[in-house]
Amino acid sequence: MLLYKDIVKEKDPVLREKAKEVSLPVSNEDLETLRQMDEYLTNSYDEEFIKKYKIRPGVGLAAPQIGVSKRMFCIQAGDEKGEFHHYIVVNPKIISESEQLTFLPNGEGCLSVDRETEGLVMRHKKIKARCVLFNFDKADFEETVLTLTGYIAIVFQHEYDHLDGILFVDRINKANPFFVPENAKELELK
Ligand code: NI
Repeated sequence: MLLYKDIVKEKDPVLREKAKEVSLPVSNEDLETLRQMDEYLTNSYDEEFIKKYKIRPGVGLAAPQIGVSKRMFCIQAGDEKGEFHHYIVVNPKIISESEQLTFLPNGEGCLSVDRETEGLVMRHKKIKARCVLFNFDKADFEETVLTLTGYIAIVFQHEYDHLDGILFVDRINKANPFFVPENAKELELK
């Protein structure tokens, strides 16, 4: 079982690597890695577990964050409309993105960035991503195109960045951390 100590922190070079494509079909070893990552997110919604093991809860976790430099990540997050998204994603490729940008009013956070940060992170409001996605009904992976908007699109882009060695702090405008471009609008959270 993964605990907070198992999550690679900011200075580790693995977080800066461009992760490798996962070979298909997904091997048992990769499946086990995904299972552990997904379990960490499930545990993030269990108050007692959080307290007992002092884990820092998360809504997304990418393989490089546990030291595995492969293109895969998991997401378990509720969006601004109250809808819950549960994704196990392999070899994603963002194939289109809106010109319209959005951002979280309080900035982003990351299980690998263990310090206070200030500033906004601009993300595309809407994205389309082709990926090999785990289908929970079929208990198998299938190629899928996901269309995501708002909060869940932000989470997806954050995790996707991890596969390219990018952390959210890299995307904060250094000269003006709270700068909002003309084509950007704050995400309205509930
Ligand atoms: Ni992160």
